[in-house]
Amino acid sequence: MEVHNVELVMSAVAPEQYPTTGDPEIAFVGRSNVGKSSLTNVLINRKSYARTSSQPGKTQTLNFYHVEDQLYFVDVPGYGYAKVSKKEREKWGQMIETYLTQRDTLKGVISLVDGRHEPTADDQQMYTWLSYYEIPVLVVATKMDKIARGKWNKQLSMVKKTLNILPRDTLVAFSAQTKTGKDEVWDWIEAHTIR
Ligand code: GTP
Ligand code: MG
Repeated sequence: MEVHNVELVMSAVAPEQYPTTGDPEIAFVGRSNVGKSSLTNVLINRKSYARTSSQPGKTQTLNFYHVEDQLYFVDVPGYGYAKVSKKEREKWGQMIETYLTQRDTLKGVISLVDGRHEPTADDQQMYTWLSYYEIPVLVVATKMDKIARGKWNKQLSMVKKTLNILPRDTLVAFSAQTKTGKDEVWDWIEAHTIR
């Protein structure tokens, strides 16, 4: 999709605040600092539209970006940030669970992992959880520009194996710096948001 128009329409913490147009939604989840906002910005051809956070763990709302008045990208606050209190973590968990399990217009989740490392326990838990609810998942291994091309296959196999990625789901190698993988991510989004 060639994107010309994007609008942050809502920062929500509860279902009453979610948009009501009925357009399909794709959510972006992943560890704090993994590159969710950077991926979003590449997809919409902007340098810094989605808030790239200077303070990790500080974004505590679901941010709905209306793309071309057709679909929403939902930027979900990152997990795994050590300095967040237990209470904050529980609040986060409840908000995310409510959104991911009860939102009819949610058509798929893009789950980001750092392509340089083995997925963390939190990454594994998130993927297992999404699979359990049968939510279509695109796993994006990001920051691939930091890995030599010759090591990509080995690295991607490791990610696939560690997360136990199901045959129905897809894994894409991505870099916000080189934009590798952008078209594949868009293809997946379009396939899952056709009305
Ligand atoms: P939170 O909103 O705090 O959860 O973080 P986020 O997941 O939105 O991460 P963000 O996009 O803000 O990126 C975090 C840092 O990683 C920034 O310094 C980015 O420039 C960097 N980064 C993101 N993607 C890539 C990538 O593909 N390659 C490289 N080299 N750096 C990246
Ligand atoms: Mg962000």
